[in-house]
Amino acid sequence: MDKTSNDCRKCCSEAPPFEVLLEDADGSEWRTVPRDSVSIRGRSVILDLSAMKPSADAATAVRYAWSDYVDCVLENSEGLVTSPFLHPVPPPESSTRNPALRRQGGAAASVPEAANSPPSIRTPPMGFNSWNFYHCNIDENTVRAIADAMVKNGMRDVGYRYVNIDDCWQVQRFDSGEIQADPARFPSGMKALADYVHSRGLLLGVYTARGSLTCQNRPASYMHEEIDARTYCRWGIDYVKVDNCGGSNWPRTNTSWIKFREAFDSCTVDTGRPVVLSVEYCGSVDGCGEWIARTANLWRTTADIETTWSSVVRNIHAQEPMYRIAKPGHFNDPDMLQIGNIGLTVDEQYSHMALWCVAGAPLLVGTDLAHASNATLAILTNPEVTAVNQDLGWRNNEVQGRIIKKTEGRSEVWAKRLADGSRAVLLLNTHDTRSSDVTVAWSDLGLASSATAEVRDLWRKNDVGRFTGAYTAEKLRPHSSAFIRVTPKEEWMTVDQ
Ligand code: GLA
Repeated sequence: MDKTSNDCRKCCSEAPPFEVLLEDADGSEWRTVPRDSVSIRGRSVILDLSAMKPSADAATAVRYAWSDYVDCVLENSEGLVTSPFLHPVPPPESSTRNPALRRQGGAAASVPEAANSPPSIRTPPMGFNSWNFYHCNIDENTVRAIADAMVKNGMRDVGYRYVNIDDCWQVQRFDSGEIQADPARFPSGMKALADYVHSRGLLLGVYTARGSLTCQNRPASYMHEEIDARTYCRWGIDYVKVDNCGGSNWPRTNTSWIKFREAFDSCTVDTGRPVVLSVEYCGSVDGCGEWIARTANLWRTTADIETTWSSVVRNIHAQEPMYRIAKPGHFNDPDMLQIGNIGLTVDEQYSHMALWCVAGAPLLVGTDLAHASNATLAILTNPEVTAVNQDLGWRNNEVQGRIIKKTEGRSEVWAKRLADGSRAVLLLNTHDTRSSDVTVAWSDLGLASSATAEVRDLWRKNDVGRFTGAYTAEKLRPHSSAFIRVTPKEEWMTVDQ
């Protein structure tokens, strides 16, 4: 068999995870390839089948039965665990690809590439998540009411598409292994609910965890990833959050995620519908940050968000240094929005929204949208504000804005360079008690310090005017902010352009 571009780096200190299907007149049987028949040469795994009985020529297929041998794994060149595969072994007379191997009765097992991003989302997901407000008190009527509300209150038209059910929708597994939705809370079943949500022009998400139990002790997906993914696919689920609870069951953090990713990619092949994979957790640029974007669409970077200003700030700060990892279709996730929930002042809610937008974070609203106030909707549905979040950034590849200037305990200036070269700028007063002015100089934005630029107030949707050299938001109240768009006049474009 052909070699692949994968680097098979680690196999196998214990029982090798390869089996061959031996077929003869009496039938067929999967047989483990002995340890001393497996070798790694360059980027290929060589299976020497010459010692197999009845004979190597009886081998018709080879499979990598990884899930039964978790102590012995292949890693590809990305350092990711390779998932199981099955390949036919070409019959001897027709094998022209590797005659040398065939003569010695061997087969080179090719290892498929790590899962790549499927034709999936490009911009940060926007929608609803049930956890922050409903916790376990979620049911199908509430989900329908939320979907109806998102249509009626204009959220869908601004881009909020996902209706995500978090923990507690599941109660047990059937004997077949298939997960069962709580029959008391979801009596119509998840397929019917997905159909309903889809009929409203929206998408449905569910939650699981990579351990045996979810964070609320419901059955989770450990050793059930494939069957769960197939079930979600059959139901028409569009988004799956895989939580971290009980995750130590697998020897590697990403084992569960890769299984889901690959299963969702197959689902996409079958249905044409992408399935968003949200995972928990990756909190550093090194280690997981080097590969997480190849596996997941979004990954939690922090502890659970609370309805306090300090929690909002802690979460957005924690993922700020991870800006390099984020790219179209793959986002750092500082957790859900708490807008509309009791605990944040109105100023803090505006700043929370603007922070999540400038930082290119998923906009998953964790409040009771069926009864959202006009004030809450005003924060959530300003199209000029959400447009910053959905903008793929400079060269369509800088989805996450950053802190460009900071005075500890007093102020922060965040900026995201947008696809058209203008800048979204958030001027934030971080002082707990005092009002103050916050200034952005054009030079902070990489513009010529003598440049003139148009400033637009995104919340008020009005042009503030032309400013030379800098702009100051005056008398910002504690924890409040100004969210502006700075568009340099052409003759004064960025110094590095
Ligand atoms: C964890 C997650 C939360 C939520 C709960 C549900 O704490 O981080 O976002 O999903 O589990 O149990």
